[in-house]
Amino acid sequence: MKAEASAPGKVILVGEHFVVENQPAIAVALDLRAKVLVEVLEGEPKIEITSKNLVISEVFTLTSVNKESPLYPIYYAAKTTMDFIGKEKPLRIIIDSEIPPAAGMGSSGSVAVATVAATSSALGVSLGKEDISRLAYQAEVIVHGKPSGIDNTIATYGAAIAYRKTEGFVELKADFSPVLLVLADSGIPRSTGEMVRRVRALKERYPKIMNPLYHAAGHLAIEAGKAIEAGDFERLGELMNINHGMLSAVGVSNLVLEKLVYVARKSGALGAKITGAGGGGFIVALCWREDAEKVAESLRNLSNRVIVGQISQEGVRVESSL
Ligand code: PMV
Repeated sequence: MKAEASAPGKVILVGEHFVVENQPAIAVALDLRAKVLVEVLEGEPKIEITSKNLVISEVFTLTSVNKESPLYPIYYAAKTTMDFIGKEKPLRIIIDSEIPPAAGMGSSGSVAVATVAATSSALGVSLGKEDISRLAYQAEVIVHGKPSGIDNTIATYGAAIAYRKTEGFVELKADFSPVLLVLADSGIPRSTGEMVRRVRALKERYPKIMNPLYHAAGHLAIEAGKAIEAGDFERLGELMNINHGMLSAVGVSNLVLEKLVYVARKSGALGAKITGAGGGGFIVALCWREDAEKVAESLRNLSNRVIVGQISQEGVRVESSL
């Protein structure tokens, strides 16, 4: 038995970091996907994992589980899925992802979601989206320590969502066809978990300053949701710019990110900001479809990786099951 599943990457349009402390945030699915192939083997329980992107392979057995491995969260997602459905089989897992890792595009969340879906399908069980998202969240906890849950949710459901930790998500009814997203890589690697810890420590040092900022960020996300549903992309762009200022205030920007953001704005973006944990990774620029190439061209002078993407309606999908 084999199955392949895929899940989209994501861009947080507004609200990252603030979402960790239960403020609302808005995420959209991108048309870049992570694919995971799971094959059920014969014999002793073990999970063989290969990442085509990281160019590494590792075997996890009952007696040998390397928790330091970058592949451990994938092992964990597959193992948790098998425990949930009550079948333990040896597996071979191959990951092939178009989503740049550690870049703010939810690569680990998408891989976790696709791993859960492919593992369950390979074992002959078709899980509902709620179960897929919840099991992937458990693997995200291993990667990030305290994830908000937004990554696994958008990777499972696709399209555009407003998300709040304690309330879950609502799908935003939106027509994104007039706009494209231009993403530019700062080239600086960073760890989401580390950035989240730093922001929380700053918040704890300055509660009287940070608490109102967090509330304002929550209001901003609600306004941005309304702008999206009204198709008012100029307003959405402006709100993204304000949100970028808030992310600078909590300490996740730097010179490289600021340059990318300002070049994007100057060359015609409706709005531009850090996306994801910051400290490095990508910026996102919201552009009218006809302006996107011009913005991308300006960013290519500063960034080795510029991606022009559109919002994808589709969440997790089982591609094939034999
Ligand atoms: O950079 P990413 O794709 O890992 O996104 C992180 C988003 C945060 O809000 C900073 C953390 C979270 O768990 O929501």
